[in-house]
Amino acid sequence: MTALQDKHEKEIKHILAKYPTDEKRSAVMPLLYIAQRKAGYVTKQDMLEIAELLSISTTEVASIVGFYTLYHDKSGGKYRIQVCNDLPCALRGSGQFLEELCENLGVQVGETSSDGILSVEAVMCLAACDKAPMFQVQSHSDISYHENQTVESALQTIEKWRAEETDK
Ligand code: FES
Repeated sequence: MTALQDKHEKEIKHILAKYPTDEKRSAVMPLLYIAQRKAGYVTKQDMLEIAELLSISTTEVASIVGFYTLYHDKSGGKYRIQVCNDLPCALRGSGQFLEELCENLGVQVGETSSDGILSVEAVMCLAACDKAPMFQVQSHSDISYHENQTVESALQTIEKWRAEETDK
């Protein structure tokens, strides 16, 4: 039994029971969700264990993690700010927005702030192409979308989150 199975045996059994034995690979997304739930990202060990459980390669598991913006292979801030920088958004100024946002927050793209509260990432299309600059935020198991942003409006929202975290 793997460490992931040890910790979540019942839940994993329940998920696997939903799929025919020759289609176990289809359980990859819910298993990744379980793996990510605690630390906010999927470790290499988790990917290895999921691959073993589903009889697929770790590369296949890693490719799912890499493809979807809601899965992560690295730890991040309590608020993961994901700015879409795909072409349609770039045409509406998301590149400059991202650069200035990072400058104001004192982080590079892909980095987490020193207080651990936020990280900023550049991601591909989030299906709000006509409302750029826009970003999605993952925090405390919530996801929110912020569209038609300016650096000022984004910073205002982020300061609110910072204040909430500091008050805790
Ligand atoms: S290209 Fe950015 S939301 Fe679609």
